[in-house]
Amino acid sequence: MANKKIQSAFFCQNCGTQSSKWLGKCPQCNEWNSFVEELIEKKNTKKNPIISNKISAPQLVNEIDYTNETRIISNDTELNRVLGGGIVPGSLILLGGDPGIGKSTLMLQFALSSKQKKILYVSGEESERQIKMRAERINKDSINCYVLTETSTHNIFQQIGKLNPEIIIIDSIQTLQTNNIDSSAGSVSQIRECTAELIEYAKKTDTAIFLIGHINKDGAIAGPKILEHMVDTVLQFEGDRNHTYRILRTVKNRFGSAAELGVYEMTQIGLREVTNPSEILISERDEETSGVAIAATIEGARPLLVEIQSLVSSAVYGTPQRSTTGYSGKRMNMLLAVLEKRCGFKLAAKDVFLNITGGIKIDDTAIDLAVICSILSSDQNIALSTQTCFAGEIGLSGEIRPVNRIDQRIAEAEKLGYKEMIISKNNKFNTKDLSIKIKKYSKIEEVFRLLF
Ligand code: TYD
Ligand code: MG
Repeated sequence: MANKKIQSAFFCQNCGTQSSKWLGKCPQCNEWNSFVEELIEKKNTKKNPIISNKISAPQLVNEIDYTNETRIISNDTELNRVLGGGIVPGSLILLGGDPGIGKSTLMLQFALSSKQKKILYVSGEESERQIKMRAERINKDSINCYVLTETSTHNIFQQIGKLNPEIIIIDSIQTLQTNNIDSSAGSVSQIRECTAELIEYAKKTDTAIFLIGHINKDGAIAGPKILEHMVDTVLQFEGDRNHTYRILRTVKNRFGSAAELGVYEMTQIGLREVTNPSEILISERDEETSGVAIAATIEGARPLLVEIQSLVSSAVYGTPQRSTTGYSGKRMNMLLAVLEKRCGFKLAAKDVFLNITGGIKIDDTAIDLAVICSILSSDQNIALSTQTCFAGEIGLSGEIRPVNRIDQRIAEAEKLGYKEMIISKNNKFNTKDLSIKIKKYSKIEEVFRLLF
């Protein structure tokens, strides 16, 4: 009886690579000791075939009937924005994030706020009572949110069949288990199989499904990378645990831009949408302090003004310390080298600490100029005007280089009431009649002479 034999294979728990024998190092992702044996015996081989009465035939692109797909617009405007303007029926959306960052809160809050659509929140992690307690905290009048605590996909599909929800939330994909496969929950083959079953259901019935996924220590979504390929949209929920601000970022989106960004604030009563993030990222200052500079950056498609703080002091130990929060340490070292070599500032024997306030991470090179001005301001102990902001990239020869989407940055700075903005001499912009004064420079020394 050949088909009675239990089949097993080894899977890399990091990337999902399959191998017939155990390997010490994964040939695909180079991770050590990541192979685990899993049973891959499928108990139920005659799965119901996908029922479809559509027969595909080649069609001219010009003749394809393009009516705007109807999107489900939720009450959460930030969520709508990151999804590219609402939820597409029949799509699978994967939401990843560190433990405790607020993934369950975000999804439950979204489910509770639904007025028109029936939503089923399936939790394999928390009991009904725990969910109720959380719902009480969020305190939304809910009329359409159903809760199910279950981990077996078989039972889940049974309940879904009875309820017919338009949107399903699965918290989390790592807790699900299908009977078709004989390995433990959370293993690579289980995750893959459960996702495949959900995709089949979503496409067949035009139900939108949100999957919450844990992320591993490197920040990738735990389980096989293939999961990210299977779903339509991947969202990442991130933020500094010590701060209350959370950022929802699109990593992949088949139905919209992958550069969108939503900002929330974690409060005592759930997540609050932050519609004007620049205001919260810049601290209220009554008096001018040295070491603070405002940068006009772009995160995703959104212009943001962020505050950069630095502290430069004489090094107590032989080797000066360099430390950054929310900004690349390598980039700061490069900028310090430019200041040292091209502009003659003696910073080699100084400790330099740099911080982007609000707990967000920025890797836009357009904030270089603000970083430099903040460091120089602290070094000289001279405060910059609170009415000035910066946008410019610094090249290795100390030149200020133009940045992209300058019009958007200028518009945001103007909206927030800044009086003056310093940019590169070569940056062209179209907007006229600005209430903000634009100053253009090509070298760091010129800016230095202007400011200090
Ligand atoms: P949670 O949604 O459980 O995180 P995840 O599902 O990503 O693991 O988030 C829980 C955290 O959020 C917890 O530390 C408490 C905090 N929280 C609030 O501050 N306010 C609230 O209203 C709620 C519901 C949670
Ligand atoms: Mg959770």
